Amino acid sequence: MSKTPFIYGNTVSFSGFTNREKDREKLFRNLTNGINSMLISPRRWGKSSLVERVVSDLNKNESDIRTVSFDLFSVSSENEFLELFAQEVIKASSSKWQDWLKSGKEFFQVITPKLSLGIDPATDFSVGFDWEELKKHKNEILNLPETIAKKKNIRFVICLDEFQNLATFDNFSAFEKKMRAVWQRQKLVTYCLFGSKRHMMTDIFNNPSKPFYRFGDIIMLQKITTAKWLDFIEMSFASTNKFIAKEIAIKIPQLMKNHSWYVQQLSHYTWQNSGKTVKLKDLNDALEELIFTNTPLYQKEIESLNHSQINLMKAIAKGEPQLSSMTTIESYRLGTSASVVKNKRILINNDIIDKFEGSYEFLDPAFELWFCKLFFGKNFKILNE
Ligand SMILES: Nc1ncnc2c1ncn2[C@@H]1O[C@H](COP(=O)(O)OP(=O)(O)O)[C@@H](O)[C@H]1O
Ligand SMILES: [Mg+2]
Repeated sequence: MSKTPFIYGNTVSFSGFTNREKDREKLFRNLTNGINSMLISPRRWGKSSLVERVVSDLNKNESDIRTVSFDLFSVSSENEFLELFAQEVIKASSSKWQDWLKSGKEFFQVITPKLSLGIDPATDFSVGFDWEELKKHKNEILNLPETIAKKKNIRFVICLDEFQNLATFDNFSAFEKKMRAVWQRQKLVTYCLFGSKRHMMTDIFNNPSKPFYRFGDIIMLQKITTAKWLDFIEMSFASTNKFIAKEIAIKIPQLMKNHSWYVQQLSHYTWQNSGKTVKLKDLNDALEELIFTNTPLYQKEIESLNHSQINLMKAIAKGEPQLSSMTTIESYRLGTSASVVKNKRILINNDIIDKFEGSYEFLDPAFELWFCKLFFGKNFKILNE
């Protein structure tokens, strides 16, 4: 049996990566032209994959640019961030680890980094600072890429994933000011800052009273369209000598509302269930399997919510246009209009719903199918072709 052409769970920057030509081109152009770019979308739509792809395009085509990428998801303090920042910038500045060890003397004036190297230099290089000293000299670290770029006649592109995580640290607003002040003066460093918490990201970058306002281009990453998913699915089946009819293939992005991760997951299960020619039953079984696999997650999600929050989700699932109107509040038992406002905010912060083009939607299409079956007894199987 050949290998599945569908991939989910990791970033897909090469095999499995599809479309996004315009996003790729725009981000590439921005980053080579020194335009900071902030990329925002709900999780699992494809930000990390896109950035990984553009970084590899940069590495291939722009010999004077050094790229730095890391994820802030697991970083838990400002100091940790600064150490990681210095470490990754130093690592990107040269392909030789011998050079990394010299960087302490070469690139730092006021603060002395502790550099250490393990058995495998590529993975075991780390940078530490005396945290008392660090407090006074954050600027030097934040400006490290510019210092190195000037001395070595190179440029840096720095990509920071889940950037909004910084906003959860103590004293973020002071640090935020400092970062912006240092970074905006840099001529040789361009930033790509991206993250999944739409509201936190827009609050950092699109709020006129905040330091990062107008730091660069804000790009709201969109979903890949149904037509493009359709091409991708048909081609991927064909590449492994299987045939899927258009009428069946199109149901995959439709059911998963073009959500990247889920389109890949449902395609994969369908592919796995099918023989040479895909039958509707293969897709139905795949959908059941997908929902079954994810059910523990959905259950956990529901258990963390109270009745009025679940009722609000019911109203959203039914497409009620006016969530705060008296009739909606009464028929769905949503409490008071103040609690509707509060619950909306909680559901948004938990990544369960968000507002798109004026109306609220579930962020997770498979969770929505599961939810509608649980509360409205709605069957999610596709009955006709
Ligand atoms: N351009 C793409 N083409 C095909 N599948 C994609 C693409 N981008 C993302 N995916 C699918 O979505 C999943 C999540 O992508 P990821 O880049 O991790 O999203 P995010 O960073 O927005 O959370 C990937 O594992 C892959 O299955
Ligand atoms: Mg990501």
